Amino acid sequence: MKKNTKLYETVAALLSPGKGILAADESDPTAGKRLAMVHLPNKPENRQDFREILFTAPDIEKYLSGVIMYDSSIRNTTDDGTPFPDVLTAKGIVPGIKVDLGTSELQGFKGEVVTQGLDNLTDRFEEYYDMGARFAKWRAVITIDEDKTPTDEAIKINSIMLARYAQIAQTSSIVPIVEPEVIHAGDHSIQRAELVTTRTLQILFQTLMEYKVDLAGLILKSSMVLAGDVYSEQSSPEEVANATLRTFHMSVPYECAGIVFLSGGQTPERSTKNLNAIGKMGEQPWPITFSFSRAIEEPVLKAWEGKKENEGKAKEVLLEVSKQNSLASLGKL
Ligand code: G3H
Repeated sequence: MKKNTKLYETVAALLSPGKGILAADESDPTAGKRLAMVHLPNKPENRQDFREILFTAPDIEKYLSGVIMYDSSIRNTTDDGTPFPDVLTAKGIVPGIKVDLGTSELQGFKGEVVTQGLDNLTDRFEEYYDMGARFAKWRAVITIDEDKTPTDEAIKINSIMLARYAQIAQTSSIVPIVEPEVIHAGDHSIQRAELVTTRTLQILFQTLMEYKVDLAGLILKSSMVLAGDVYSEQSSPEEVANATLRTFHMSVPYECAGIVFLSGGQTPERSTKNLNAIGKMGEQPWPITFSFSRAIEEPVLKAWEGKKENEGKAKEVLLEVSKQNSLASLGKL
């Protein structure tokens, strides 16, 4: 594919050392689950208030290079009518957009799913670009179950969807984040998670290369490699760091612009500790940082609780959590 230099400018901004990406891209129903944690109803006003706290918090641009939004939030505004993407751009934070439309059953493959959302994607990117978006995210879901799950077929079809999305994004001057999330929930060992994540990333990058995606204009969003959440032996930060980096070295071409992590349902503290252990392993062929959702938003939500008088405190918590993750990405905690 023809090289598009606009992509490299965006990649450089997103991967500035010591910065990470906030994934505030929950669909409306998923945003409802977050609000329910602090007993708030899933009303548009509550979703808007929470996002306004996140996006207007002073100084977050020191630690956040980008924010991923959802279709309804990229169209939303602050109370004074400023579009959310404009608020972010004014701070020097790159606006991003989640463009996949969730998963559907992969018939014939029990429990496995394939992500949807390629229809009209060129037109959707054109509109999002006009709104200010310069990068995007597409999430595939890979579940570890008995011996045969995930199947190579499920990984391959999801990789083809990711490659097609990435092609269209790059043609639209939008940096694609490709996210094959290997699900943390489950009763699997860290060894099994490592095998599955390595296989997934190998098939993904093989497919991205087959479809001529420009890896220098693409970011991988990965799970950390760790034992399932209900497995008897939980992984230490050092084990996570070793297994995760070994996986990347076995599967991610050096041309890939960078790697960012999802938190995957780990506690905020554990996500940060694991990131710090990875940062402490020293320089890698790719910039590596965070792109957490729950691990950043949960402490902010708890500080806010839907109360006007707590908004200032909630913004301070966002700044502090972002700072801790920034330090962790550099291995400096
Ligand atoms: O797709 C997943 C999100 O971008 C990251 O969410 O950090 O809560 O796993 P998480």
